[in-house]
Amino acid sequence: MSKKLPYNNQPIGVFDSGVGGLSILSALTKLLPDEYFYYYADTKHCPYGPRPAEEIIELSSKVVDFLLEKGCKMVVVACNTATAAAIDHLRSQYSIPFIGLEPAVKPAAKLTKTGHVGILATEGTFQGRLYKETSQQFADHVTLHLQVGKGLVKAVEQNAIESEATKTLLSGYLQPMLEAGVDQIVLGCTHYPFLIPVIEELVEGKATIINPAPAVARQAVRVLKEQSIEAQAGLGQVVLLAASGASDRMYSLWAEVGD
Ligand code: DGL
Repeated sequence: MSKKLPYNNQPIGVFDSGVGGLSILSALTKLLPDEYFYYYADTKHCPYGPRPAEEIIELSSKVVDFLLEKGCKMVVVACNTATAAAIDHLRSQYSIPFIGLEPAVKPAAKLTKTGHVGILATEGTFQGRLYKETSQQFADHVTLHLQVGKGLVKAVEQNAIESEATKTLLSGYLQPMLEAGVDQIVLGCTHYPFLIPVIEELVEGKATIINPAPAVARQAVRVLKEQSIEAQAGLGQVVLLAASGASDRMYSLWAEVGD
């Protein structure tokens, strides 16, 4: 068993096309005080949403190669778009465990009382096998109102969350859903939780906003236990951030939302 300890203390890789995955990292660091996290933002290639699946597979594989070089014992694909395009490929190519993100259609379909659920995500996420299968399996009894959040990733990356332009964009996406009677709004992109204050203002309590981050963090805890790869207790937490391109926004946002 003593041989295992050094491996268990290796980092958990977490990646996204940009700063969105920090919403997941923030939830992970709250639940896992002894883990070492290595976050990678592929800001040079952000956004992933409009790119073809083959390109996202290539980009994601490069990021995972980088994280494995850093010794990661597990990788959280903290990006719905990368999960949709690349998680099957990643799982077939690498032997470490992967945790992916997919729009929380299942809990939303369970919770809705009106039978109408809104989903905000990128075009890449809606095109993925996972989204299609999950919505068929768990939401065939509800009406799903899909909306591509064009421009929202950019707004978060550029620190334009509170700008009038972002409010107008969001209002244009949310008002039709609300008029159709949605009572659950699923945030299907890890950038979107940073927009929650603006979304809440627009929604005025008419719908519950579903942020998947806490559930993903609980799933990570389960997988670490199942695989017996939890870090040694009492070791303390380490968080390293890296990016392929611009990194200022990543550091300033982490200063706001990190512990
Ligand atoms: N945070 C990514 C996601 O969850 C961003 C998508 C993008 O880069 O377009 O989908």
